[in-house]
Amino acid sequence: MDITFLGHASLQLYIAGKTLIVDPFISANELATAIDVNSLKADYILVTHGHQDHVLDVEQIAKNNPEIIVVSNFEIVSWFGGKSINGHPMNHGGKKTFDFGLVKYVNAIHSSVLPDGNYGGNPGGFVIEAEGKRIYIAGDTALTYDMKLIPETMGPVDLAVLPIGDNFTMGYEDAVVAADFIQCDTVLGCHYDTFPPIVMDKNAAQQHFKAKGKKLWLPNIGETITL
Ligand code: NI
Ligand code: MN
Repeated sequence: MDITFLGHASLQLYIAGKTLIVDPFISANELATAIDVNSLKADYILVTHGHQDHVLDVEQIAKNNPEIIVVSNFEIVSWFGGKSINGHPMNHGGKKTFDFGLVKYVNAIHSSVLPDGNYGGNPGGFVIEAEGKRIYIAGDTALTYDMKLIPETMGPVDLAVLPIGDNFTMGYEDAVVAADFIQCDTVLGCHYDTFPPIVMDKNAAQQHFKAKGKKLWLPNIGETITL
């Protein structure tokens, strides 16, 4: 499983011969000018919630990849369905096996409205099980005890993608507690530095994780890791 960080909370995952994009917000991200949205190929787009900084480039990517399937909550999938984009609707607690692996849509503590003001359902995160690995993509969320349900029901997490930029989501101090809740030692930090309210001291965040015996991975935009 390869994971490329596309900036903010956007990722590209290569799993079992399929390509997934998560929460594409690239064309308006001044830090992500190295990524060309029109060059992105994907089979699926996973959308955690309806906010602009998570859905902005879905339509453009779908235009370039007409077979793409949007996986999100029912309301968001219905909204994209109105734009003739294919989707697979889920809701909290539900899991579904796709051709690349299993996806479970899990709770997040946040809000979710679509860019035109339409109701975006309740926000969520995803747990993906594939190729013998388990990864948790939290979406925008506060720290919540619900995270403990993930290892309790599914098993420990190999990699967690957690927001760490504070203000709109949990900050890195809460994210390291989240990593304990989900029984995960390696965290990919996201949702920081993109906007002034979430500019973060990266060194302090990494030191904080290190002091708790955990690794905080802060890749450059466009960097890939193999899990
Ligand atoms: Ni949000
Ligand atoms: Mn956000």
